Amino acid sequence: MNPAKSFDYRKLFDLSGRVALVVGGGSGIGQAGAEGMAAHGAHVVVADIVPEDAKGVAERISGAGGKAISVQIDVRDTAAVTPWSPQWCAIRAGSTYCSPHRR
Ligand SMILES: NC(=O)c1ccc[n+]([C@@H]2O[C@H](COP(=O)([O-])OP(=O)(O)OC[C@H]3O[C@@H](n4cnc5c(N)ncnc54)[C@H](O)[C@@H]3O)[C@@H](O)[C@H]2O)c1
Repeated sequence: MNPAKSFDYRKLFDLSGRVALVVGGGSGIGQAGAEGMAAHGAHVVVADIVPEDAKGVAERISGAGGKAISVQIDVRDTAAVTPWSPQWCAIRAGSTYCSPHRR
């Protein structure tokens, strides 16, 4: 065995400290992806055009001990996905990214 080539496989799927934005996370494949990444430690932003569905998934993740917030967004709306829009700042909530000093 070559000690220099050892690898910590436990960290391979560790998403602790990472933010995962899942558009369409309110149902189906997006929901599964959101829940899967939360299970691996990511702080998940569940974004969906249907706010109740996004909220439900975020609550499900939080109820299972994970970290998640929900945000209503329509990815077809250019203004909504433009940096500094209210939705964008909601996605970046908790960081200093949306502070006036960074604009
Ligand atoms: N389910 C499958 O087996 C499968 C297989 C291959 C490809 N796909 C494709 O993958 C995609 C997702 O499939 P699914 O089964 O999870 O569908 P789904 O309808 O369950 O999920 C799509 C999600 O996207 C949200 N959404 C729709 N328009 C949006 C918009 N403008 N902005 C933000 N959110 C929006 C919906 O509210 C919904 O929560 C689809 O394009 C589907 O055709 C699915």
